[in-house]
Amino acid sequence: MNLRLAKPEDLPHIQAANLQNLPENYSMKFWMYHILTWPQISFVAEDNKGRIVGYVLARVKDPANKAPEIHGHVNSISVLRSYRRLGLARRLMLLSQEAMTTVYKSSFVSLHVRKSNKAAISLYRDSLGFRVDKVEHKYYGDGEDALYMRLDLPQQSS
Ligand SMILES: CC(C)(COP(=O)(O)OP(=O)(O)OC[C@H]1O[C@@H](n2cnc3c(N)ncnc32)[C@H](O)[C@@H]1OP(=O)(O)O)[C@@H](O)C(=O)NCCC(=O)NCCS
Repeated sequence: MNLRLAKPEDLPHIQAANLQNLPENYSMKFWMYHILTWPQISFVAEDNKGRIVGYVLARVKDPANKAPEIHGHVNSISVLRSYRRLGLARRLMLLSQEAMTTVYKSSFVSLHVRKSNKAAISLYRDSLGFRVDKVEHKYYGDGEDALYMRLDLPQQSS
């Protein structure tokens, strides 16, 4: 299994994985905007034939777009079913978090997760150390609440 930075030509495969794995789907324009604007913090996992089996897509938020501090935000992460529980999502998150710190000096990383998504909550809370910052009621289109979770990132000395 190879983990590497996501490239624009990966986007059709990332989008296909997203459609298979999650109800939150996005246009190609959305994915492209992320990869081109913050090219260092989105990653893919590929198998030995070069097929994309997992991805993490992230962005940076900063005071220019009303965020209190510069921080990373994970928009979407998923791993194909037959490649789960191999540590891929954890490794993808760690790569993204490291780049958020070193490239963008992000002070923390945030994300939204469905209240019912036990696997993802366990990944974020138990495996990576995130905490629930607040509950956002009816955040999702179907009315489900989101947990807004965050993790402080180590500060880089300049
Ligand atoms: C959530 C998801 C990305 C996890 O991917 P993964 O590669 O299987 O996760 P990892 O193997 O890196 O798991 C790391 C840790 O997360 C936790 N975890 C992962 N899947 C879990 C599950 N099904 N049940 C409980 N804990 C789980 C465990 O603590 C695990 O460590 P362990 O295997 O040593 O016990 C994957 O299940 C997925 O793609 N789900 C559908 C899409 C999704 O829900 N994305 C998140 C949206 S917010």
